[in-house]
Amino acid sequence: MQCSKRLEPLSFNVFADMDRAKAKAKAARQKLIDLSLGSSDLPTPPHVLEAIAQSLQDSTTHGYLLFHGTQTFRQAVAEWYTDKFGIPVDPETEVLPLIGSQEGTAHLPLAVLNPGDFALLQEPSYPSHSGGVYLAGGQVYPMPLLAENGFWPVLAEIPQPVLAQAKMMVLSYPHNPTTAIAPLSSFQEAVVFCQKHNLVLVHDAPYLDLVFDTSSQVPGKPSIAPSIFQKCFYRIFTLSKSDRMSGFRVGYAIGNAQLIQALRQVKACIDFNQYRGILKVAIAALTGPQQIVRETVDIFRQRRDVFVEELNQIDWPVPTPSATIVCLG
Ligand SMILES: Cc1ncc(COP(=O)(O)O)c(C=O)c1O
Repeated sequence: MQCSKRLEPLSFNVFADMDRAKAKAKAARQKLIDLSLGSSDLPTPPHVLEAIAQSLQDSTTHGYLLFHGTQTFRQAVAEWYTDKFGIPVDPETEVLPLIGSQEGTAHLPLAVLNPGDFALLQEPSYPSHSGGVYLAGGQVYPMPLLAENGFWPVLAEIPQPVLAQAKMMVLSYPHNPTTAIAPLSSFQEAVVFCQKHNLVLVHDAPYLDLVFDTSSQVPGKPSIAPSIFQKCFYRIFTLSKSDRMSGFRVGYAIGNAQLIQALRQVKACIDFNQYRGILKVAIAALTGPQQIVRETVDIFRQRRDVFVEELNQIDWPVPTPSATIVCLG
């Protein structure tokens, strides 16, 4: 049997390759410090687990959940966002539940690109960004992130013929794997650029509240990195990281109503939403004690300090990261 050609660019999978390397090292009884995956090793908070335990006993949660999740979930997301950024969000038209940000970033190109269109992606970027573009029959234009530019792409270097055929740009800050945080002025530059070239601007932001240094944070909002505030763009967020819920697979998109509706149409062909109990869990995390997020940040900051210090001790100088996750498996 011959599979579709669109699978060809997907033959390389960083996670599968890492798994093979880890299995090989384990088989050779080598000592392993596993830095391959940003999945929190901290336990999911008790009030979140309690919410799913209650849902499991409640038979009204057991059926299909059509359309775009529950009103209470969308409302909790809208309120969370407004609280953090002071921007009103319409829960009916500007919020969509996702099965994690990987799913949202992978499916969005199907809603935006026609075959052959370019997506402007950071290089390096999270694999679902390019994977989704290839599945949609699009082309990837890689924008290199270099230390001398603060790991921000040089937008002026994107060739005109690419821009003429480009439909979207995906940015992700705080950035995995460089840990770079983009200042608000850089986001402003991206907004102006995307408006000029009629591009959908997507912000994949799973590490938005895993920020260690107050100097990098939004004034008055502890542990929040600057972000694309304008609602006419697309922001994808997840409960995997700061809420310690990677395995629960829940996130959401916030943004332009037309784009939300377009992704909703794509997802209507593909999934019937998350289990209602998972959305209840997400509400418990979004509306529950935010102390958990602060604790997570403190633990990751301590780990970062130990790790950087140890590397320095063995003459491997590394800059101190300002954000993102530090899991040691
Ligand atoms: C930049 C980025 N986007 C998306 C994801 C996937 O997160 P989720 O668990 O929400 O699918 C990750 C996870 O490491 C990530 O680093």
